[in-house]
Amino acid sequence: MHGETRMSAYPDDPSIASSLLAKMADGSLTRTVMTNKRAVATVQLENEHVRVTEWRFAPGDATGHHRHAHDYVVVPVVDGELELIESGSRSRSRLQRGKPYFRNAGVEHDVINAGGANMIFVEIELKDTAERR
Ligand code: NI
Repeated sequence: MHGETRMSAYPDDPSIASSLLAKMADGSLTRTVMTNKRAVATVQLENEHVRVTEWRFAPGDATGHHRHAHDYVVVPVVDGELELIESGSRSRSRLQRGKPYFRNAGVEHDVINAGGANMIFVEIELKDTAERR
């Protein structure tokens, strides 16, 4: 990783932007990658039937590998693009604001914001469901 500079997911932070510019000027910045931080999950509502979680991702942020114990619906709050790492293979999915999708319990994956802007979606887990084997 020599010569690589990790860039904050918050490019509007002036101190980080100016330190990056300084590194570009003196040639020490050879490659810029987005930081793979964890997405921020906020449980907004939970009862015996549902758990509703807001997920916020800066560019490059990931959920971390997880398995879905319940059927769930995702409602994108903004347009964006996700990279999905599932069973060792990578795919991309374009999300459209307000356009939901449904998946069954048993999905196991890591989810990364592959777009250049913040990604936000709301996940609704249906706790009365379980993986059918
Ligand atoms: Ni997931």
